Amino acid sequence: MVGGGARSTAVVGLQWGDEGKGKLVDRLAGEHDATVRFNGGANAGHSVVVGGVRYALHLMPSGVLSERALGVIGNGVVIDPQALIAEIDGLSAKGVDTSRLVISDRAHVVLPYHKIEDELREALLSGKALGTTKRGIGPAYADKVQRGAAVRMGDLTRPEVLREKVEQACRLKNGLIREMAQRVGQEAADLDADAITDQALAWGQRLAPMIDDTVYLLNAMIREGKRVLFEGANATLLDVDHGTYPFVTSSNSSALGICAGAGVPPSAVGRVIGVMKAYSTRVGAGPMPTELHDSTADLIRDKGNEYGTTTGRPRRVGWLDLVAVRYSAMVNGVDDIALTLLDVLSGFDELRLCVAYETPEGRTERFIPDAPRLTQASPVYETLAGFSQDLTGCRSLDELPGQARAYVERIESFIGVPVRSIGVGPDREQTIEISRGVCV
Ligand code: IMP
Repeated sequence: MVGGGARSTAVVGLQWGDEGKGKLVDRLAGEHDATVRFNGGANAGHSVVVGGVRYALHLMPSGVLSERALGVIGNGVVIDPQALIAEIDGLSAKGVDTSRLVISDRAHVVLPYHKIEDELREALLSGKALGTTKRGIGPAYADKVQRGAAVRMGDLTRPEVLREKVEQACRLKNGLIREMAQRVGQEAADLDADAITDQALAWGQRLAPMIDDTVYLLNAMIREGKRVLFEGANATLLDVDHGTYPFVTSSNSSALGICAGAGVPPSAVGRVIGVMKAYSTRVGAGPMPTELHDSTADLIRDKGNEYGTTTGRPRRVGWLDLVAVRYSAMVNGVDDIALTLLDVLSGFDELRLCVAYETPEGRTERFIPDAPRLTQASPVYETLAGFSQDLTGCRSLDELPGQARAYVERIESFIGVPVRSIGVGPDREQTIEISRGVCV
């Protein structure tokens, strides 16, 4: 099984998000005592199908769908309490037990003005917009680093502290929001600090039983030998330091964010599993060297249901970029790979793999984590034979057609990391487990 061996496991995306991390985390959760979100916020969208029922998770750790694991939202997450409460209620209505959720008192709060700011900043950037999810993620992280007016989850249970912070935030933001709105031809009403505080206090009252010091909790669990699963949101190529900057999210969404975002030492992070799709997708703006704009893209998009879990936007689609994925595997120190959505590639005569870039400075096999320079890179492809068989019923490597196996072998040999599982359909069971990797 994928999760054997090390006591703690990390699951991170190796591309631009939506790699199918949710399904893997959900499968692994049963072997762990806690699943922990350490970065991002309601911009993330994990889609998990259990027993034919599809669950869309945004802030909830995927492990909440397991029988026993605690679900922990760590200090590195930015939480929109309204979205979290709606998610808790939605899951409860489907019969999911949400009582094992613990929320860090130090996680920062996304408040209504962060979403207004996110919208207005994007509008101001006009043709150069980042294509954010408009969930207020960037402005909330900016306030966290700026410090003065930031609100943390623990503040939601302290009325005096909260009122003062929100008043200060509204004073700082009113002028800014008014000016940004004017510049895009809109009018903005002044923020009502009292109304925002009252609303936030009501959210705090509802969530108070779940708010705790998760740093002590997680370190105690680790000391006692309990197994912890760190669940990356967004993905490595969206990491604020290591992704395609500035077309990235505002947190460290690679495994490098775990220690700061969960409050655990580096030694606590055991095995790192990198999740990657058999092709590339991206939502929002930013360079994507292997992007396709033809009928192949349409076919992959429809077969893979490549529409955003959070925003419903059609995802950009392209051939697998091995240069990018090998870089991500390096940055994360990936021990093994979970390959997802291989079934979607059935029906093509040929499959292409990007193995280098042509750039104005010449050919390179290095990824370029800088948007303006990556925009100038064009992919150098290797072409492999395609396959036509339906893979959704395959449960072992032997059942895969030779061409599909050769495709997986090439991924392994290029990245130098074993592929330990292959997803062939959306359901938990539609997975091929490989004990030793295909060829590495
Ligand atoms: P933000 O995180 O909403 O600020 O958006 C910044 C960029 O990251 C945009 O291009 C988003 O589409 C992208 N993004 C953020 N979260 C995810 C995710 O979970 N999956 C895929 N793309 C994401």
